[in-house]
Amino acid sequence: MRKVTFHPVTQADLQEVLTLERASFPHPWSAEHIFNEIHSPHSFPLLARLEDGSCAGYICPMLVLDEGQILNVAVQPSFRGKGIGMMLLEAALELFREKGATVVYLEVRPTNATAISLYTRCGFITIGRRKAYYENGEDAILMKYELPMKKEEHHAV
Ligand SMILES: CC(C)(COP(=O)(O)OP(=O)(O)OC[C@H]1O[C@@H](n2cnc3c(N)ncnc32)[C@H](O)[C@@H]1OP(=O)(O)O)[C@@H](O)C(=O)NCCC(=O)NCCS
Repeated sequence: MRKVTFHPVTQADLQEVLTLERASFPHPWSAEHIFNEIHSPHSFPLLARLEDGSCAGYICPMLVLDEGQILNVAVQPSFRGKGIGMMLLEAALELFREKGATVVYLEVRPTNATAISLYTRCGFITIGRRKAYYENGEDAILMKYELPMKKEEHHAV
């Protein structure tokens, strides 16, 4: 496996993220939506790059107070099945840990077996369903990951 590094998404990466979105989702985010996530104080999108500089995937974590949300994750079709999705999720969970999140949620289509299996391997558990969540009326499975409290946050009794 080639080396993968993670970088905060900047405006200069917008076109690559847009291409990745279009290759990955039936209803991809628009350039404006990606722009807003890049500039949102609550979102911390990360890009995975290979050694040759090519864009392998990206993830969009969002944090409000101590509650995290994975808004989006996508890997270039030609790089799927090599563990990059897992690395992106681990990078996002590390970022959530650093920023003091205690819980992370995400929604996924019940038909997206690859994504569900990936999230489960990462430690997410299914906690419910959101009815007719997607544009086509499909429900979403709601998944949750609890982050252990940092040692120094445990209160002495
Ligand atoms: C979901 C998605 C991000 C996963 O990315 P990925 O890089 O393929 O993920 P991983 O490689 O970490 O894991 C995917 C599969 O590859 C397998 N895999 C991981 N590393 C592997 C390796 N070195 N060799 C062979 N297979 C491997 C995993 O076991 C897993 O298979 P499984 O689902 O049968 O268990 C990617 O499929 C994608 O972009 N899909 C379209 C967008 C999408 O649906 N996003 C999620 C929205 S909720």
